[in-house]
Amino acid sequence: MNSEWPVQSSPFTGHDSLSARTILAIETSCDETAVAILRGNELLASGVASQTEHEAFGGVVPEVASRNHLLHAPRLLESAVQKAGIELSEVDAFAATAGPGLASSLMIGASIAKGLALGFSKPYLAINHLEGHLLSPFFTGDFEIEPNVSLIVSGGHTLLVEVHALNDYRILGRTVDDAAGEAFDKVAKMLGLGYPGGPEIERRALWGDGTRFEFPRSMLDSGDHNFSFSGLKTSVRYQLAKLGSISEDIRDDLCASFQRAVVEVLVKKTMRAARESGTKLATVSGGVSCNCELRDQMSAACHRTGIKLLTAVPKLCTDNAAMIAFAAALRFQAGHSSEVTQEIDPNLALA
Ligand code: KG4
Ligand code: ZN
Repeated sequence: MNSEWPVQSSPFTGHDSLSARTILAIETSCDETAVAILRGNELLASGVASQTEHEAFGGVVPEVASRNHLLHAPRLLESAVQKAGIELSEVDAFAATAGPGLASSLMIGASIAKGLALGFSKPYLAINHLEGHLLSPFFTGDFEIEPNVSLIVSGGHTLLVEVHALNDYRILGRTVDDAAGEAFDKVAKMLGLGYPGGPEIERRALWGDGTRFEFPRSMLDSGDHNFSFSGLKTSVRYQLAKLGSISEDIRDDLCASFQRAVVEVLVKKTMRAARESGTKLATVSGGVSCNCELRDQMSAACHRTGIKLLTAVPKLCTDNAAMIAFAAALRFQAGHSSEVTQEIDPNLALA
């Protein structure tokens, strides 16, 4: 599945502090191939090719993913350059996701970006995928990075981070087992729904009764900022086994009850972290932050406590290269660049 974004002419209206440098970024950390070109305030092009081949395997197959990146990346690159109406020689810096992610996938994007940087004698920037997510809420509107408590919720990660400034992060907590998105995907699979599971569960939950099944809110009162979603997933499995064959209505109720449990934990723990850190701003990013129930509940909780909430636009929540270009632009402006000898790191830490 390929998607080209409707390109915004000026996503950062009213701001001119991001210098008008042109950044080309490539994202291949998992199973999405993405290329974006950002010039100053303007996102000139952004394309994503998603891979559906993995659905049959119930998870991402690394070799299939990297072969697909090799197929999709050159085509996405060509169409991004065409759409942007620029020559590759006009790009001021080339960036790629350097981790965390699948080694064989990361290598493809990083190698292409490094090759381009070398070929055009331009700087290379190795970007942390999680930093791309973390900064994505600032991509539209006010792109000055204000101190905040940031919840990153994706298929691979669930992190609470105290953000002081660009490149100044402190991890407050993380999942001790499954990521929130991973739990959505696994529960969806148990319920016979498609991959990725998050959007499927959200759709079903709209029709379901979220109070019908009382699933556990693990680690809600653990006293730290960590999460656990594995027990919740197991609890859905037990419930399913107990129910035997289920009607569509019960499937919807299971989806709504599961989603409610995940959202409650994410919101309460984020609010507690925000309160303890004394921040006036919370941000939420990553694929799971597309979820409207999470957005609504987080927004209501922030409103109640006088905390401002910034979420990424849905297109920036799931994996994309615009967020990598944005992180690269901020870093480039701050004088950062990477050696082309810098290796990808599947376990690259944010802080
Ligand atoms: O950020 P992302 O595209 O990739 C990673 O970095 O992992 O996140 C993908 C995850 C998947 O687990 C997917 O099920 C979840 O985000 N997701 C959602 C929704 N849309 C995507 N989860 C809940 N509700 C959604 N609407
Ligand atoms: Zn991601």
